[in-house]
Amino acid sequence: MTFAQTYGSASGAELPGARVIAVGGGKGGVGKTFFVANVAAAIAKQGAQVVVVDGDLEGANLHTCLGVRPPRHGLADYVAQREVDLPKLLVDTCVPGLRLIAGTHGNLSDAQPTHEERLRLLARLRELPVHLVLIDLGAGTHDSVMDYFLASDDGIVVLNPEPTSIENAYSFLRAAFYRRMRLAMVSHAVRALVTEAMDQCNERGIRTPLDLLREVQARDPSEGGRFSEAVRRFRPRLVVNEVGTAQDIKLGFGVRSVCRKYFGIDAEYLGYVNHDPAVRESVMARSPVVYAHPNSNAAIYLDRIARKLASETLSSGAVALDLRRT
Ligand SMILES: Nc1ncnc2c1ncn2[C@@H]1O[C@H](COP(=O)(O)OP(=O)(O)O)[C@@H](O)[C@H]1O
Ligand SMILES: [Mg+2]
Repeated sequence: MTFAQTYGSASGAELPGARVIAVGGGKGGVGKTFFVANVAAAIAKQGAQVVVVDGDLEGANLHTCLGVRPPRHGLADYVAQREVDLPKLLVDTCVPGLRLIAGTHGNLSDAQPTHEERLRLLARLRELPVHLVLIDLGAGTHDSVMDYFLASDDGIVVLNPEPTSIENAYSFLRAAFYRRMRLAMVSHAVRALVTEAMDQCNERGIRTPLDLLREVQARDPSEGGRFSEAVRRFRPRLVVNEVGTAQDIKLGFGVRSVCRKYFGIDAEYLGYVNHDPAVRESVMARSPVVYAHPNSNAAIYLDRIARKLASETLSSGAVALDLRRT
C-alpha cells in the first residue's frame, strides 16, 4: 500500500492536515538546508505530498538545492501581507510531489511578525493539502526561529561533529528550553522568573533548570506542575550531519544524555548522515543527492531518516507500507 492509499491523496479533502516539522540548529553551514531539501525529497520519492518552506529570510537558498530559479515571491511576501493566499506561493521543484514556499529576502522596512502572527502562519501551513511540511529555519536563536521550532509538531536540531557546531546546538537547545518554559507559564511573575533564569549569572543563584523548577514550585505549585508537564512534553530531535567516524556517530547519544542530565528533557537521536563528496556534487548540480546519487552513503542514511519520519506521519497502527521497506 502506498502513502497516498493509506493516508489520503493530495487532492485535499481527505487529508487530515499536514504535519509540520521545523529544522533548526544554532550554526550556519551545518547542513540544515541540505537536510531539509533531501529528507523532503526522499519522503516525496516514497509517494507522499510534501512542502518545504524556506524560513531563512536572510540566507534563503533552499530553492537552489531543489533546482528552482531564484523565485520572485515567497514567504516574506506573506509575512508582510503583500500576498495573503499562502497556497499561491507554492512552486514546483525538480522532485515530483515536492513543492516549495521560497524565502525571498524581506525588505528591511518589513515589520517583523508578532508571536501570534507566527502561530497563525503555522496554522495556515497545517491546512495545506499535503502530508508533511518541513521548515528550514536558518541559523540563530532569535524569537522567530524559536517560535516556529516550538510551535511545530516536531523540532529537529541539526549539528555536525565540530566543537563550534556542538556549542551552538547546546545554546539553541537552551534557548528553546527556556522559551518553551516561559510560554508554558501563566503567571506574569513566574514568566519574569524564567526570563531571569536565562541569564546564567542571575543574582537569585538559579543555575540549572532544576533550580528553576524548585523556585517556581515554591512560588506557585500549580505553575510548578505546568513546568514539569512542559518539560515532559518537550522532545527535540537530533540529527548529526557530516559524520566520518564511529566517534562522530556517538555524538548524538552524548548530546542526548547531556539534555537529560542538564535539562531533564528527553531529546531523541533521530539519526545521522555521512560526510559524503556526493553531497557537494549534488548541490553543484542543483539536485537532491537522494536523486542525483541514490546509492551514496549520504542518500542511504537520509532515506533511513525519511522512512522514520514518514512512517510516524501515518496514523498510529498503520498497516505495512512501501515506506517501511528496508
Ligand atoms: N553530509 C554532507 N557531506 C558533505 N558535505 C555536506 C554535507 N552536508 C552539508 N554539506 C556541505 O555543507 C554546505 C552547507 O550546508 P547548508 O545546508 O547550506 O548549511 P546550513 O543551511 O546549515 O547553513 C553544503 O552546501 C554542502 O556542500
Ligand atoms: Mg541554510
